[in-house]
Amino acid sequence: MNVDGTSFRTIWLGKDGETVEIIDQTRLPFEFIVVQLDNAGKAASAIRNMWVRGAPLIGATAAYGMALAMRDDPSDDRLSAAADLLMATRPTAVNLRWAVDEMKKLLTPLSPNARARAAYIRAGEICDEDVAICSLIGDHGMPLIHRTWEARGKPERVNVLTHCNAGWLATVDWGTALAPIYKAHDAGIPVHVWVDETRPRNQGASLTAWELGKHGVPHTVIVDNVGGHLMQHGLVDLVITGTDRTTAAGDVCNKIGTYLKALAAHDNGVPFYVGLPGPTIDWTIDDGVRDVPIEQRDAAEVTEITGRSPSGEIAAVSIVPEGSFAANYAFDVTPARLITGLITERGVSTASKAGLAELFPEFAG
Ligand code: MRU
Repeated sequence: MNVDGTSFRTIWLGKDGETVEIIDQTRLPFEFIVVQLDNAGKAASAIRNMWVRGAPLIGATAAYGMALAMRDDPSDDRLSAAADLLMATRPTAVNLRWAVDEMKKLLTPLSPNARARAAYIRAGEICDEDVAICSLIGDHGMPLIHRTWEARGKPERVNVLTHCNAGWLATVDWGTALAPIYKAHDAGIPVHVWVDETRPRNQGASLTAWELGKHGVPHTVIVDNVGGHLMQHGLVDLVITGTDRTTAAGDVCNKIGTYLKALAAHDNGVPFYVGLPGPTIDWTIDDGVRDVPIEQRDAAEVTEITGRSPSGEIAAVSIVPEGSFAANYAFDVTPARLITGLITERGVSTASKAGLAELFPEFAG
């Protein structure tokens, strides 16, 4: 996507063809800083500290982390140590496991001197595949926005609510939830986006608003509790979110607060869609509430908030009395029954075992 006239992906190789470059997303929207990852440890830190985040981008970074490890030491020991290191970074997004497993499957049977080259090639392919998948999610999701706009008699704007950041910053390009929105905007549909700020880390306010703004998509940032009110007043035509792990039965785990939006949408008859890349489906589980590991992060993300002061200084300020405990659950699960449809690279399916099995027969048990 475009940043001030320059086309960017979220991850790419530097001039030496080996160092991995990323955008430090913890500095957005205030500063656009490119960071070099020159070893697997740094790739793991980038994921753990959320310089990169979003399920597909976590997977792509892990794949390049494996490539960096193989460049430095292609031994069996290093292969399994790098896989363990990367796997331990964040527990919820299943793309991490998917990408590390892909790399292990490819690299383990190869002789050590063939591993680095093969790893770089596969990591590059994983990135290219993600771009193609997300673009297709856009193609399949855009007609949902178009049809809604037409069904409403082509009003001045069609309102889509989204939660967290499931745009190009969360993937390699295009995004999942935002891909249909970009394609609708580019096709001349007057789409307007309600952007949930998404406490505690504010990925909506910092990242979604930033990237929509760079692309010229009209949007309004709202605090997380506003969505239900807007839906009661007919101000949301559809909801589209991303997902970090979707079960074989269509339960969707996504950023904390997604479930409450789905409940409000259900109560108000607002369609609730999820942009879902194939690698985000965990075919090994059905029951999301029971089986998806929910990441718990540092309480400081709740007790503090980061912003820019009028003098331009970026700082974290405390918003909780000293001594109060805080809990920081990073994700929740929206049961399939609350989801209108899953927008995948192969088309739109119902959130159900049968729906997903029809689109992905080769994986369904
Ligand atoms: O904690 P984050 O910022 O990695 O969480 C990201 C999300 O919850 C996204 O909605 C999800 O990864 C989908 S990304 C296309």
